Amino acid sequence: MDAIEALLTRKSSARLIAPAPGHQDLKVMIQAAARAPDHCRLRPWRFLVIEDEARARLGDIFQQALRNRDPEASDAALEKERLKPFRAPMLIVVIAKIDDHPKVPAVEQILSAGAAAQNIMLAAHALGYGGIWRSGKPCFDPIVKAALGAGEMDQIVGFLYLGTAERTPVLPEDSISDYLEIWENQPE
Ligand SMILES: Cc1cc2nc3c(=O)[nH]c(=O)nc-3n(C[C@H](O)[C@H](O)[C@H](O)COP(=O)(O)O)c2cc1C
Repeated sequence: MDAIEALLTRKSSARLIAPAPGHQDLKVMIQAAARAPDHCRLRPWRFLVIEDEARARLGDIFQQALRNRDPEASDAALEKERLKPFRAPMLIVVIAKIDDHPKVPAVEQILSAGAAAQNIMLAAHALGYGGIWRSGKPCFDPIVKAALGAGEMDQIVGFLYLGTAERTPVLPEDSISDYLEIWENQPE
């Protein structure tokens, strides 16, 4: 698949099954991530690959975090939280590692990590895999952040759920004219 085809056909898949990207494909995906634009070459990202039984550990962390956020959470809600990582055979957690830099504000570092995340999604698609970028409250939860090695200043930019799409996603109709404008700064 060429680059333009990959860009124009990527579509999220929520239902993901095995196989997950293998070792060689994963390496390509992370190399693609590391080609994201990066002001002052801070490399402001970390990628945690979570597969197999490590998903159970992550589920326990999600559950513990929910219990802490909401001591009234029902057993059903806690169980749902625990099972979230099992929605795909592989997860990649993308963490923006924020440096207090004189020229590169935190927002730029988060954008860089976000661009890296999207490069992973696109590379996965080009290699024939499906995926979906998810966030939710765990992204911002201090218990989850600490358990995954993210510092207070750092930001989890996403949990990338990856695997093989259970069914071929349908691309929605879209019109670029809704958000494209050729700006000429002409006086009114
Ligand atoms: C930062 C970020 C966080 C997201 N979090 C979620 C999420 O928690 N749950 C979800 O269903 N979709 C989430 N999405 C949206 C999906 O990744 C996806 O873009 C959306 O379902 C539209 O599908 P498409 O990518 O095929 O257009 C998130 C997207 C971004 C960029």
